[in-house]
Amino acid sequence: MAVTGLILVSFVCVHLLGNLSLFAGADAINTYAAKLQSLGPIVWIFRAVMLAVFAVHVGFGIQLTVQNNAARPVGYLQKVNERSTFSSRSMIVTGGVLFIFIVWHLAHFTGHVGVDTAKFAGAAADGHFDVYGMVTTAFSSAFYFILYAVGMACLFLHLAHGVGSFFQSLGLTSECTLDGVGVFGKAVSFILLVGYFAVIICGAVKA
Ligand code: HEM
Repeated sequence: MAVTGLILVSFVCVHLLGNLSLFAGADAINTYAAKLQSLGPIVWIFRAVMLAVFAVHVGFGIQLTVQNNAARPVGYLQKVNERSTFSSRSMIVTGGVLFIFIVWHLAHFTGHVGVDTAKFAGAAADGHFDVYGMVTTAFSSAFYFILYAVGMACLFLHLAHGVGSFFQSLGLTSECTLDGVGVFGKAVSFILLVGYFAVIICGAVKA
């Protein structure tokens, strides 16, 4: 899980950097999107690899949860959570919501489901698809704004535990560094939360 998690977090960081080009205006994000599309087969190889990584990550996550539940078929009479956090206890729930979010997000922004393609196709200054128009129109709607906000909140909760547990899974922590690693994981996920929320708000304001 640690290796697939690291690859997915790396993607989320790079994706945020690309999305931040929304702040630079229509030409910046449209040129960025057009450049990605122009990579042709490389994009499809990248997508296939990411899909495989994602599938393995989800599969291991489900397996781990099933094993954990099977290890304690009878629940605790009284449960005191000494080290666990809300984020660590809700990994399967936030992971499940993220799964639904990603499937829907791909259908929306990549598959253009629910997007007025007649309005945005060829509408960018360079004649490409107007990604800027699609994104700003989406975030100006309260419905999409809330859906993305919920998705980003789940991403934050998932990574707040996930990033730290990456180091633990690979045996890179000791009693001394455990707390520091936890703080690092929360800091990384908080930066991502702020970044993605900034993109959503920027999209809503620029619409
Ligand atoms: C404010 C939040 C986000 C915005 C504005 C956004 C924007 C976009 C856009 C515009 C595309 C389509 C690119 C294109 O086809 O030209 C896209 C694709 C994608 N997004 Fe996001 N995204 C957001 C959050 C996320 C998050 C949190 C994840 C993962 C957890 C994610 C995963 C993906 C993936 C996997 C693709 C497909 C990439 C591809 O086409 O190869 N996105 N996103």
